[in-house]
Amino acid sequence: MKRIKVNGAELAYRDEGSGEPIVFLHAFPLNQTLWDGQLAAFASDYRVITFDWRGFGHSTLGDRILTMDVFADDLTGLLQELSIERAIICGLSMGGYAAFAFYRKAPERVSALILADTRSTPDNEEGKRGRLEMAELVRNNGAPALVDIMIPRLFGETTLRNNPQVAERVKAMIESSQPEGVAQALLAMAGRVDSTDMLPQISCPTLIIVGNEDKLTPPDESEKMSQAIPGSILEIILNAGHLTNIEQPESFNRSVSDFLSSRN
Ligand code: MLT
Repeated sequence: MKRIKVNGAELAYRDEGSGEPIVFLHAFPLNQTLWDGQLAAFASDYRVITFDWRGFGHSTLGDRILTMDVFADDLTGLLQELSIERAIICGLSMGGYAAFAFYRKAPERVSALILADTRSTPDNEEGKRGRLEMAELVRNNGAPALVDIMIPRLFGETTLRNNPQVAERVKAMIESSQPEGVAQALLAMAGRVDSTDMLPQISCPTLIIVGNEDKLTPPDESEKMSQAIPGSILEIILNAGHLTNIEQPESFNRSVSDFLSSRN
């Protein structure tokens, strides 16, 4: 894994393959290894970039308070450092929230958008309260305290029943995450703005992916986004919950690859 200094934080990243750049933005409270299966699948045809958000994985938190705009600025900084002008941006869940912030700031840098298991709407009051409680929990008890809360939310019933080793992998990611980064990301998600108004202005090719068993960002949110983003394509992945890319990697990769090759 490589490291690069961006906006005062050290970001751990991978940059493999060549061709059109595609950047994968990981979910909360995970890290870039969420994308191992996509790195392996796409690096033969694309330049694939994955990285740990500041405060996650092997990236330092730096001295900025996390917001979706800070994540977006880090993405801009990383692309600049790597001399990438435009990229396909694929964000899953919190990665999607950050992708909206990035698109708002720099639409000219996005050649195509993939919004997986995410939503444009902000948290409601109950959701915000839950985030604050979880931030306190993780600050007091560490990241392992999140495992029992997050695992049932992240996975669909089918995966939990038939593929528990995938859940074990994610459990290890959660346990190894940085408590302060996780706590700040919770507050950042609670404070994120509503991106729904921006959807009709998204003018790049857009793919929306959602698992039919996704409880965190359910399919009806994706359907609404797809109605609002002109020309967007909606793919519902069967037998997957919130982490479609690791619950059903073949279906996820096929959707992405069909979408990318269908442009123009
Ligand atoms: C994620 O998967 O990134 C988060 O759980 C999304 C959320 O909590 O809103």
